[in-house]
Amino acid sequence: MSDTPTVPQPGAAADAAQAARIRPAAVEDLAAIRDIYNHYVRTSTVTFDEEETDLAVWEHKQELLATTGLPFLVAEDAGGAVLGFAYAQHWRAKSAYRFSAENTIYLSPDAAGRGLGKALLEALLDASAKAGLHELIAVIEPTAAAASIALHRRYGFVDAGHLKGVGVKFGRTLDVLFLQKSL
Ligand SMILES: CC(C)(COP(=O)(O)OP(=O)(O)OC[C@H]1O[C@@H](n2cnc3c(N)ncnc32)[C@H](O)[C@@H]1OP(=O)(O)O)[C@@H](O)C(=O)NCCC(=O)NCCS
Repeated sequence: MSDTPTVPQPGAAADAAQAARIRPAAVEDLAAIRDIYNHYVRTSTVTFDEEETDLAVWEHKQELLATTGLPFLVAEDAGGAVLGFAYAQHWRAKSAYRFSAENTIYLSPDAAGRGLGKALLEALLDASAKAGLHELIAVIEPTAAAASIALHRRYGFVDAGHLKGVGVKFGRTLDVLFLQKSL
């Protein structure tokens, strides 16, 4: 991993969160979602993907989430540009896991650190409860995702496990933390 900070630092302004609109993701948003996600694929260990994703990955995900009735949200600015996205996807395919999902949240680097993560996660928690989910699980690489850990803890996610050495990216061996919230 490069030494250049790629995960945004907290900023002073709250303008991004105030100006943003949160709504369900549409097909037209998928290219912007792909681009936001691929930034972190290329530059960070916050995701364990090592190859950039293509549009088909996101089309498939949107279909899957729609079919399973789970939320897929975007935050957009006043001009309609996508600033970030969040979704909850079933944690495991086996049917007994049907009330449990892994949640995912990514903001464009320019939009982070200004409160938008809180607004988007809050909307996702609400949509997840309405979708009938009971448990959300966040899977977080601890060295790169201080903002994500702070964000999830702030919304009541509690420590649920620590897997050691389960990932390798940029030549580094990586742990993952599980944080869990009952809705
Ligand atoms: C994680 C992410 C969604 C958080 O959203 P955000 O808008 O940057 O965060 P917010 O400004 O809403 O702040 C949320 C909390 O985290 C804290 N925080 C934000 N950035 C932080 C950082 N770099 N280090 C430590 N804490 C941080 C804030 O102080 C705030 O806590 P508080 O309200 O108790 O003060 C966003 O930074 C992001 O997309 N990061 C890159 C992708 C990523 O890591 N996704 C999660 C993968 S598990």
